[in-house]
Amino acid sequence: MKARFLSLGRQPLANGFLANITEAKDEFFYDMNVVYDNETHLVSLENFVRPELMFNEHYAYHGSMSQTMQDHFKELAAKINKEINPSLVLEIGSNDGVFIKNFTKKQAIAVEPCSNFAAITNKLGYETYDEFWSMKLAKQIELEYHSKVDFIFAANCMCHIPDIEDAFKAVAHLLDETKGVFCFEDPSLLEMLIRGSYDQIYDEHAHIFSITALNKLLKNVGLEIFDVEQLSVHGGSNRIWTQPITGKYLIKPTVEAALLFEKVSGLTNFSTYVNFAKRVQNSGTELFSMLREIKKTGKKVICYGAASKTTTIFNYCNIGPDLIEYMVDTTPSKVGKLSPGKHIPIVHPKDGFDTSVKFAFLGAWNFAAEICDKEKLWLAQGGKFITHVPNVRIL
Ligand code: TMP
Repeated sequence: MKARFLSLGRQPLANGFLANITEAKDEFFYDMNVVYDNETHLVSLENFVRPELMFNEHYAYHGSMSQTMQDHFKELAAKINKEINPSLVLEIGSNDGVFIKNFTKKQAIAVEPCSNFAAITNKLGYETYDEFWSMKLAKQIELEYHSKVDFIFAANCMCHIPDIEDAFKAVAHLLDETKGVFCFEDPSLLEMLIRGSYDQIYDEHAHIFSITALNKLLKNVGLEIFDVEQLSVHGGSNRIWTQPITGKYLIKPTVEAALLFEKVSGLTNFSTYVNFAKRVQNSGTELFSMLREIKKTGKKVICYGAASKTTTIFNYCNIGPDLIEYMVDTTPSKVGKLSPGKHIPIVHPKDGFDTSVKFAFLGAWNFAAEICDKEKLWLAQGGKFITHVPNVRIL
């Protein structure tokens, strides 16, 4: 049975940036509530947003925009080639090719429903299926390649899929029964609870996965987890290594350890989620008050990084251009636009990040190290970052 524990109010699409204010009259909003399923332990949105509304030719998130993510995938690809040496790699949700470009064109297939990104990997020479992941597509690929696939990968994609059981079934169908490996990484529920990073919750994140929930869901489709890695990217993620139950890899102690740690951390108790909701409420109130107090002093406050996550925060906390003058972001498809729901202007850092800025809310807090390094001169000149993770404070 599913029970609601958190309401984050009326929310627009997290990546629904507006080209101009006249687009505001047609802006899509929905009530964003979060539920916990006490049978599977899965945490999900109560009402899913239709995938076609979010993942289409206008999709704004470019994985390659961050050096951290480029390095992250390069390192992983080297490990896969060295330790697994797959003959065929399939990536579900290949975005702008940030992972797949580390493999040869013959060795890799991309699946990407956002046509703007599918066009990029296609142009690079990778066979790209511009479609949503489904059993139908898994069967089509099997037919076209006359084989099963020995390595399937997905980063920040499986948690986007509302019918997750069906998506895992399709993976299980296409995976080679003896040497097949399915590896995926997504934000960690445990990390979200520890950090109070409720901004991980937005339309695209249909689920925030725990290892506990994944273990159950994957078992249901004949897959078993054989290793778990904790990653620092995206504000704390898990990389899950799975195989068909007939697979050849030994199950590492990391799996049992992760399950146990989640249990002792209370991830299977509803009260944990109720407490989290109270923390979110306090965090929102504190952030709003802090920004309002700074505003009274007349100092310029902006937001650094128009991350999808900021949509949740600004709409939940009612933070608009009156409190955050503008946002800076290097992503070409975001620059010149207005933020979803609150319509805060977005400019390129070269046009808005200078010493006139006294405070910058770290919208992309998950890249804090990269950003602090990049902006060390601004920091040395007295600029200050504000964050809400793990609690609202000036850094
Ligand atoms: P994400 O947290 O969803 O990956 O979004 C991070 C956003 O921050 C993305 O729009 C790119 C932007 N960004 C910058 O503008 N400058 C930077 O130095 C970094 C690391 C990210």
